[in-house]
Amino acid sequence: MQPYRLQAEHRDRPLGIGTASPRLSWSMGAASEDSPAHVRVLVASSAHALINGHADLWDSGPIPMKALNVRYAGKALGSRRRCHWRVVSADSRSDVVDSEPSWFETGMLETHDWVAEWITGPVAPRDGVQAPGSTRQQPGSTRFRLPDGLGAVTYLSRAFEVVPGEHDARLYAAALGLYHAYVNGERVDARAFAPGWTDYHKRVEYQAYDVSALLQPGRNAICLVLADGWYAGYVGFSPKRRGAFYGARAAICAQLEIGGVPVVVTDRSWHTGFGPIIWSDLLMGESRDEREALTPWLTAAPPATEVWAAITRVGSAPQRVAERGPPISTVMTVPARAVAWLAADIASIDFGQNLSGRIRLQATGDCGTEIRIRHAETLDAARLYTENLRTARAEDRIVIGPSGRIDYEPSFTFHGFRYAELKASNASLRIECAEAKVIMSALERTGRFRCGHALVQRIYDNALWSQRSNFLSVPTDCPQRDERLGWLGDAQVFARTAAYNFDVAAFFEKWLGDVLDAQRSDGAFTDIAPLIIFENGGAPGWAEAGVLVPWTLWQMYGDPDILERCWPAMQRFFEFQCRHNEDGVRRQGLNLNFGDWLNVDDDTPKELIATAFWARTAAVLRDIAAVLGEVEAEAHYGREFDRIRLAFQREFLSSEGQLHSDAQGASVLSLAFGLLTPAQHARAFNGLVAAIERRGYATCGFLSINALLPTLSAGGRSDLAYRLLLREDYPSWGYSVRHGATTIWERWDSWTPENGFQKEMNSFNHYAFGSVAEWLYRFAAGLDFDDGGVARRCIEFRPQPCDALGWCEAEYESALGSVSSAWRIAGDRLTLALAVPPAATARLHWPSGWDPIEAGSTALGPGSHRFEAARSRLP
Ligand code: BGC
Repeated sequence: MQPYRLQAEHRDRPLGIGTASPRLSWSMGAASEDSPAHVRVLVASSAHALINGHADLWDSGPIPMKALNVRYAGKALGSRRRCHWRVVSADSRSDVVDSEPSWFETGMLETHDWVAEWITGPVAPRDGVQAPGSTRQQPGSTRFRLPDGLGAVTYLSRAFEVVPGEHDARLYAAALGLYHAYVNGERVDARAFAPGWTDYHKRVEYQAYDVSALLQPGRNAICLVLADGWYAGYVGFSPKRRGAFYGARAAICAQLEIGGVPVVVTDRSWHTGFGPIIWSDLLMGESRDEREALTPWLTAAPPATEVWAAITRVGSAPQRVAERGPPISTVMTVPARAVAWLAADIASIDFGQNLSGRIRLQATGDCGTEIRIRHAETLDAARLYTENLRTARAEDRIVIGPSGRIDYEPSFTFHGFRYAELKASNASLRIECAEAKVIMSALERTGRFRCGHALVQRIYDNALWSQRSNFLSVPTDCPQRDERLGWLGDAQVFARTAAYNFDVAAFFEKWLGDVLDAQRSDGAFTDIAPLIIFENGGAPGWAEAGVLVPWTLWQMYGDPDILERCWPAMQRFFEFQCRHNEDGVRRQGLNLNFGDWLNVDDDTPKELIATAFWARTAAVLRDIAAVLGEVEAEAHYGREFDRIRLAFQREFLSSEGQLHSDAQGASVLSLAFGLLTPAQHARAFNGLVAAIERRGYATCGFLSINALLPTLSAGGRSDLAYRLLLREDYPSWGYSVRHGATTIWERWDSWTPENGFQKEMNSFNHYAFGSVAEWLYRFAAGLDFDDGGVARRCIEFRPQPCDALGWCEAEYESALGSVSSAWRIAGDRLTLALAVPPAATARLHWPSGWDPIEAGSTALGPGSHRFEAARSRLP
């Protein structure tokens, strides 16, 4: 049995982690027939020592097989320590199987590790301040004039000397804003954006880079390019000005070390100026002028001339913390599907896929030709439809330089788009290549779903693409308009889908830090994190993300650390709810109460939603307390659940046990959260089925949509779930696909033939309704886990064969190892193929409507299993 997929702090070989006792985890792959007795984690100070079996830092000793992770508990580690490790499994015959070696490296663990100061460039370009290396810029030129309300991109530089020899060099850097770092003209890595978005009043993440290979003996140059980013740029929809939340002036600090000794750090000795990127803003776009050559400046120290301004030191800055999530990177390239010239100077490009990122454009044209690139998710009468971007200008501008050729990709902005329009200032433009670079936090893809039905496949793909488009440092609602905020409700309903598609452990752990940072002093979790715009919190279904997302992470990754970290905050949130609502019905402390957001004319009473989520919180806190061994708390939250559940039944059901509300959302939440007695449950389920039959479609909004199909399947009505899934008329998932959706629409009616585009608030790339993909994994393909999550090591296979799909399969790289579930119908025969990883068990819930050809146990052990079935004869 071979351990593989080694992770430290839920990341593969992380450089610069912020703890001296990282969590180490691994998966198990099959290698021997025998089941291992235990595993051991070995940690060494060098690769050589590890290979030689000399675990000089830590030998964990035998760890029971059921453990999914362990916290490093070896010799004390200081800052900047690289540790090499592997996992060894020994089976009962004592055969030892090693994992591949891996490593992690600690970052700057002590505040005094930092000697670098925060520095910043001039506020705005002035006449006479010229681009470094430029010979063309004349005093009085207007080239560096900024459009109103945009901040200048500044360039900061410093020369330093390196003695000959081999050097182990690291660069540590953080910015209030976004930066790119260069050593001797080379980018230090390929991150698209750094740092990510946090509450910069409280913390900013620093990055660590291995720059050993970039140094040269003698004179070296380090150059930092600094843009506004989330810190000083436009963020959200209000107020409509840059720098509204944190500060108006981007700043940076960087420390380059050789052998752990700082060699060059940001301080007063640096120089600053301007360069080809003139301004850049996440919402507005970017402007670049290729007539400004940069090369001499990047590769050597800037000349000490009057064109260089002295830097300014920044007095106060937030705490620097190690980067937690995966780096924000370009993860895919999508070539242009069609380029159409609308006029001699206007080209329209279709990338065939709505996405989040930016365009790389290779083109030729006369020097001085200006190209403006606008972006849109969709077209209206063959032209870009940009109304839904609201005030996000999403326009990039590039001026061709003397070479007459550009290979251009913006640096500090991104857009949500499928289409682009290029307008040149003359007809000399020739496009050689245009491709879209997809940017997101670089998550490892862990789940795949395939089936034999094109529409269903597209629904799944659309949910995947909406996740790709919105998991960028923070789980955002949308990537295109002037919003792009970390709404808690959206993340809450989508978290389980997200965790099937990609490994989101580190990503969500980072964001839950933002959620904790945002929590109000009265205990309410907020609607948005990082917190801006809405100071209030507690919105039902939104605030609960502070409890439900950590629980989902526990279920999917089996690491109790996130529960421990959030536990006090979760309890404070629960107390906040209790304080405001003594009788068990949640009517107070709701602040902005969005209800079952964007449902189809089928409102669930808001107090019902609020109380249902409150009860759910109590149940989950009870289960978390059990995981954490908090015996009293477990009993307490168990009682609280019973109390709120009873109050729920009293308030929202008639004395005959009938829900007062016949909204689909009301039934779904009461059923899914286990709020009813068995008799009430049966009634509510029948009511839900009747309500769906009556309307013929699902009416659910954000808060109930993820539970709708699982609730139907749990009640034995997968046929109805499929009917909703396969529907193509309005409203349905299929409706958007039929109208060309390549991502999940924000609203069921984002566009209709009768009313055209929804006004005001309309995105074509919002993942909340894409949470249907959770059902595709767990029920359609049938790859599900025990409610207690992977830690129970029990897989629940619940395949739901459907003739319309013909076949279906899902694979999931789980914390236990690879799991897969597939079914195929051929006439009246059904084949099931299931794979269970080592050290796990599984139960097959036999699909209704099919009879096994050979009776066999449905309690499965590790390995591959195949079942044949025949269609049941109708009675
Ligand atoms: C966002 C949502 C969010 C909602 C709150 C919208 O503006 O786009 O996705 O959850 O507000 O109701």
